[in-house]
Amino acid sequence: MKLSARSLVASIAALAALALSTGARAEGNLTVYCSVQEEWCQLMVNEFQKATGITVAMTRKSSGETFAQVKAEAANPKGDIWWGGTGDPHLQAAEEGLTEEYDSPKLAELHDWAVKQHETAKKRTVGIYLGALGYGYNTELLEQKKLEAPKCWADLIKPEFKGEVQVANPNSSGTAYTFIATLVQIMGEEEAFKYLKALAENINQYTKSGAAPAQAAARGETLIGIAFQHDVVTPSITSNAPIKNVSPCEGTGFEIGSMSIIKGAPNMENAKKWYDWALTPDAQKLGAQANSYQNPSNKAAPIPDQAPKMADIKLIDYDFAKFGSSAERKRLLSRWDKEIGAK
Ligand code: G6P
Repeated sequence: MKLSARSLVASIAALAALALSTGARAEGNLTVYCSVQEEWCQLMVNEFQKATGITVAMTRKSSGETFAQVKAEAANPKGDIWWGGTGDPHLQAAEEGLTEEYDSPKLAELHDWAVKQHETAKKRTVGIYLGALGYGYNTELLEQKKLEAPKCWADLIKPEFKGEVQVANPNSSGTAYTFIATLVQIMGEEEAFKYLKALAENINQYTKSGAAPAQAAARGETLIGIAFQHDVVTPSITSNAPIKNVSPCEGTGFEIGSMSIIKGAPNMENAKKWYDWALTPDAQKLGAQANSYQNPSNKAAPIPDQAPKMADIKLIDYDFAKFGSSAERKRLLSRWDKEIGAK
């Protein structure tokens, strides 16, 4: 048989393409719903693809939005794994049977708070990071407006901050739900809603995503942005922005950022591969590389130098079982909709 050089090249190319496509098929796919900052989502996806050969499709949405999507898709699940975002909606998803039980071999390497989250959820979610709530203010704007620096939650409802405060909408954002749950735990529910009503006078915008108010404060679009303290720190590092982080004097709540496997995940085995990999120190180190400065849940993963120091923050004993329960989250959100609502 005589083969021309051209047909030989063509056959080799066809064979190579076949090998590649069967290779890709062998490793398969994974759909990740990601609820942290885009930069971190992207880096995780790229590194996981490199490490496993699995092809990942990723959608980034806030925690409350992702919860709503997972719930809406429950009869015909499209996502495999929900990675990141505040713990409360992950706990609600667990209680509502929207996510799968899983015991990762990596559980033994995690801090107690991350394992406790797994126990509270009856194995349907796990802690991946920890972060404290607070707010940031733009130091240049504060000086221009000749205002005194706020130090407490109570300061944010002062009349001089009218139109100067930004926070997310608690329906879409886990950060903003953590804010409400924190106030309820510090002040009691009635006082907390009085506070939220007074605060509404000072709010210039309810954003969709939780970190957006910190970014807006960094850019000088709002004087004050309520967010997780690590989200306040990020723009001061990435763009040297004039934003100062405040750990409120009354004390503050925190999140246990979580991860859950979606019930009926089309790519269940690959979802478990992501889950185990995302709990390794190497994967958890990627947060700081993507300018996200939470405390990682694997004991062997270093706490980034830039992370707000937990020991210096007056943390409340946040009741995750209660505020992550389906009834409580629904009730508080509908009370917020009725009495406060987004402008
Ligand atoms: C940011 C923070 C995360 C947090 C997430 C919640 O990405 O860095 O620690 O879990 O916001 O987002 P959300 O938009 O739901 O408030």
